[in-house]
Amino acid sequence: MTDAGVSAKTLPACLDQQVAEDTLRLITCGSVDDGKSTLIGRLLYESKMIFDDQLAALGRDSRKFGTQGDEIDFALLVDGLAAEREQGITIDVAYRYFSTRARKFIVADTPGHEEYTRNMATGASTASLAIIMIDARKGVLAQTRRHAFIASLLGIRQIVLAVNKMDMIGYARDRFESIVEDFMPLNEVLGFDRIMPVPLSALVGDNIISPSGNMPWYEGPALLPILETVDAGKEGRSPLRLPVQYVIRPNQDFRGYAGRIAGGVLKQGQAVKILPSGKTSSIKSIAIGDAQMQAAATGLSVTVTLDGEHDISRGDMITDAESPAETADQFRAKLIWMDDRPMLPGRAYIFRTETASLTATLAKPRYRLNVNNYERMPANTLALNDIGSCNLSLDRKIAFDPYVENRATGAFILIDPETNATAGAGMIDFALRRSHNIHWQATDVDKDQRAAAKNQRSCVLWFTGLSGSGKSTIANILEKKLHAMARHTMILDGDNVRHGLNRDLGFTDADRVENIRRVSEVARLMVEAGLITIVSFISPFLAERKMARAMMADGEFVEIFVDTPLAEAERRDVKGLYKKARAGTLKNFTGIDSPYEAPEHAEITLPTMEMDAEAAADAIIDWMKAHHYL
Ligand code: ADX
Repeated sequence: MTDAGVSAKTLPACLDQQVAEDTLRLITCGSVDDGKSTLIGRLLYESKMIFDDQLAALGRDSRKFGTQGDEIDFALLVDGLAAEREQGITIDVAYRYFSTRARKFIVADTPGHEEYTRNMATGASTASLAIIMIDARKGVLAQTRRHAFIASLLGIRQIVLAVNKMDMIGYARDRFESIVEDFMPLNEVLGFDRIMPVPLSALVGDNIISPSGNMPWYEGPALLPILETVDAGKEGRSPLRLPVQYVIRPNQDFRGYAGRIAGGVLKQGQAVKILPSGKTSSIKSIAIGDAQMQAAATGLSVTVTLDGEHDISRGDMITDAESPAETADQFRAKLIWMDDRPMLPGRAYIFRTETASLTATLAKPRYRLNVNNYERMPANTLALNDIGSCNLSLDRKIAFDPYVENRATGAFILIDPETNATAGAGMIDFALRRSHNIHWQATDVDKDQRAAAKNQRSCVLWFTGLSGSGKSTIANILEKKLHAMARHTMILDGDNVRHGLNRDLGFTDADRVENIRRVSEVARLMVEAGLITIVSFISPFLAERKMARAMMADGEFVEIFVDTPLAEAERRDVKGLYKKARAGTLKNFTGIDSPYEAPEHAEITLPTMEMDAEAAADAIIDWMKAHHYL
């Protein structure tokens, strides 16, 4: 089995359709010790006859379309993950495919270790049912509560409570019943629609295919008949949602929009609303591969054309005209953190849905969940495998549905732009109303006029460097020189701003990010006011300096690296802080136990070992004159 790089583009329509038919996607949760692998093995084995037929057909398609040479490419069938694969998410989930006469099954099999929330989240994101494995000898464990919680969070509405290893406890009915009784109260928090407890033995085969003679007291169905008859999907009942993956324009006369139907049924002639623009139209034609269709259902990949001319691009959504999706640029969402690098509120992440890519800034988490007892705890950040709730804002509006209404259009992932790692997975709760109620107020006097009235060009001179590198000293001399030249200036200095606006912030990574975010916003206002704004902060992280730069117009941000080696800054130790940091009485000190990321492309670098502060300030003035800032 593999999940090598097959993308939605290469997925042949015939296979795509197979998956969209009556297929149950399920996830098995439990550790190897609970007998999970044995259970999956048994399901595969018991359905083997039909599996062989399937294998032959799949083998032919794999040779045609797959990535495995002559080998069978099971990944072709796991289309829902194409998006994640394209995004290079690194996960540890195996997908098993089998079928019986009644239906097809795709089983996501995830490692059961405690810390693998993110793997389970990945496997569960498209599943309609979870099998929660309980060892009859051990009963309901913290791990059971965690698995059930994540399954519920990810929108799974029905679970099988598989109480395994009944053979090892003498098929004791009272034990089975007490385990079920332990579990049921949890559903007040979890809210599953259906919980189906089954006493079984994967090893011996009790209650897997048919009722076991060893447990005549159990009157319910065996596992497989349950899996064959449960509801396989929910999104089909949602109104039409077609996120546009590609705009197809082979010539002037044809403009098609391709994507996978994420909800509802698409019909020819149907009235639609295009989001986020809000324009209306109707469906002119529907094609699946080369075949023209009257209608198409959720899960199918289609190309549609619309009546009239429209400006639609990748990431837009074609939705039912009567029940359109919502649009917003600020949300409340649940987040599952998936990266070793903890979440940094204030930092910009890439926000990706199946079709759209935007920039998101996260606020401080509202809370972090203890998945063992479902309690909400205060948090400043989220670490690997943490689950929390947080507000986030995007750089533009997108169309979406709350995750509880549609798992495809309500989900997103966050990518760390520096490492390209998948940092988190998110589920949208709702749009924040303030995103509708706050508008940008245009003013009649603009930045250029304000600067012109002061006879200058406004900009930010952004000093970065270690504590004690000489930033404030040089900035101070520079401001005096500019002042003498009748320029209007302002200095924002880390130590000073931290006495007021930022006095609630310390020196953790998260606080430094917020420190720089706020000072960038203030610097931007000062530039709007037409001032030559001098910012003097350690600003140790590349990402935040990049963000500050991105907030200003081209050429407005001048980065000045005060390049003093750590040894020299420590030798000077003007404030005595290095001494404290070395002694361990001052934590998170830049250069000692907190990183400093030197600029790669600063406009000006000042090697302070080779020039004094006066010469450094002169060098900046010279640069400004040469580049027409003065
Ligand atoms: S930044 O990293 O968030 O940009 P900022 O420039 O605002 O830092 O503040 C740095 C100043 O705070 C230093 O010049 C120093 O005087 C003081 N300081 C106190 N504790 C620390 C620390 N742990 N790390 C760095 N600077 C500290």
